[in-house]
Amino acid sequence: MEQIVFLNGRFVPERQAVISVEDRGNTFGDGVYEVVRIYEGRPFQLEAHLARLERSAAAIRLPLPMTPEEISSAARELIERNGCADASLYLQVSRGVAPRQHQFPDGAQPTVFMIARPVDPKAITTYRQGVGCISVEDRRWTMCHVKAITLLPNVLAKQAAKDAGAFEAIFVREGVVTEGSSSNVFAVSGKRLYTHPEGPFILSGVTRRLVIDLARRLGLEVCEAPFTLSDLKEADEVFLTSTVIEIAPVVRIDGQRVGKGGPGTRTVDLQQAFDKLKEGPSGVD
Ligand SMILES: Cc1ncc(COP(=O)(O)O)c(C=O)c1O
Repeated sequence: MEQIVFLNGRFVPERQAVISVEDRGNTFGDGVYEVVRIYEGRPFQLEAHLARLERSAAAIRLPLPMTPEEISSAARELIERNGCADASLYLQVSRGVAPRQHQFPDGAQPTVFMIARPVDPKAITTYRQGVGCISVEDRRWTMCHVKAITLLPNVLAKQAAKDAGAFEAIFVREGVVTEGSSSNVFAVSGKRLYTHPEGPFILSGVTRRLVIDLARRLGLEVCEAPFTLSDLKEADEVFLTSTVIEIAPVVRIDGQRVGKGGPGTRTVDLQQAFDKLKEGPSGVD
């Protein structure tokens, strides 16, 4: 059965979901996006994702043409129409279609689309067992808190990781570890958890925030403070978080073993707590 896609207020078969070549998302990467995880047909943390979408849109002065309630109801209908169980939902809003000129166009209607794709459970199991990473220089802009579709440095970093036989590239800005190309980074040292503070150098991950709350509930001290690449390499445990990979232990960085070279106990505790959150009503919007 052909996928149904949401495009500008309509549910259409994927092949009929056509966007103009002059869409500013296409010509300038002028737009914002979200990725929401669907567990057993239910969107996880949808409210948090929609709140971040609003913040991202406001940061690039893009008025959203739909309210969060309208987006939420369209997302649920899309999931229903596609019979999604375990899936990820991609939502993009661009500044619309207009002849190519850098400044904002007059009167263009933003383009909104959503598509849901199944998530491969085998891939999730693999991430859970541990992944390798490389470090790369963070050459991105200073608005990393905006979930903008302009992702070329992230794409190049992820490809560099793949070329090196690794899963993720960890960005380092002036010696400080910021985040992964599509994930947030945590280091565990004793009973302390370290992660880069929110601000212009990282995306405020929805999973990151959940993990911070879970860690505190598990009795860990959470330090949202900068740390260096050598701190990271010397940590007892390192893990990545994102909507798609959830909590993935990092077992190698730049070819060097992290901790004991397998998922650490704190990481596994957090994975288990996260699993409960997915199942329980409080974690599912
Ligand atoms: C650069 C970057 N940082 C962090 C994350 C993790 O964010 P979330 O947990 O909201 O998926 C992502 C997710 O794609 C990302 O692209």
